Amino acid sequence: MDVGMVCLLLWDTYWASNRSRDVIEQSTRHSLNFSLFYQGRQVGFGRVISDYTTVSYLCDVVVAPEHRRKGLGKWMLETILKHPRLGTTRVDLFTRDAQAFYGQFGFTKHRFDSMVRYPPGWPGNLAIVKTPTE
Ligand SMILES: CC(C)(COP(=O)(O)OP(=O)(O)OC[C@H]1O[C@@H](n2cnc3c(N)ncnc32)[C@H](O)[C@@H]1OP(=O)(O)O)[C@@H](O)C(=O)NCCC(=O)NCCS
Repeated sequence: MDVGMVCLLLWDTYWASNRSRDVIEQSTRHSLNFSLFYQGRQVGFGRVISDYTTVSYLCDVVVAPEHRRKGLGKWMLETILKHPRLGTTRVDLFTRDAQAFYGQFGFTKHRFDSMVRYPPGWPGNLAIVKTPTE
């Protein structure tokens, strides 16, 4: 995976434009990452956080603007959802406006209302936190 290209892809989105390179790098270190390459250049990305048993969270799905609407996002999503370690899990995601994109893979509205807790100062407080394994 080309972290520099992943940063460029994510900085162009409505949800991750304020993440530093360090934060992006750390978030990928603790995720199952999927990278889409075209002629040796990274043009797409997505990642999953999972317990690999009951639940997974899919996020940061993006295809470079010049490569959109060519079926690449669909192929990447199919590939992600076919990953053998995710097979038994429910997959959650949030999206502002790509419901129709995800709908074709079986995503629907949550059965229950979802809730979220934002940490104090979010989203301006993104900082690198050392984890015990590092
Ligand atoms: C959403 C995204 C990843 C889709 O990737 P893509 O490569 O353009 O998608 P595809 O070409 O594989 O499209 C597959 C199908 O989904 C549809 N589709 C693509 N993007 C869509 C969107 N944003 N909303 C609704 N439908 C969409 C296409 O029309 C196509 O339908 P078809 O097969 O009936 O023609 C891409 O548009 C993107 O990076 N958008 C900006 C970031 C974003 O919004 N990501 C999702 C955040 S939750």
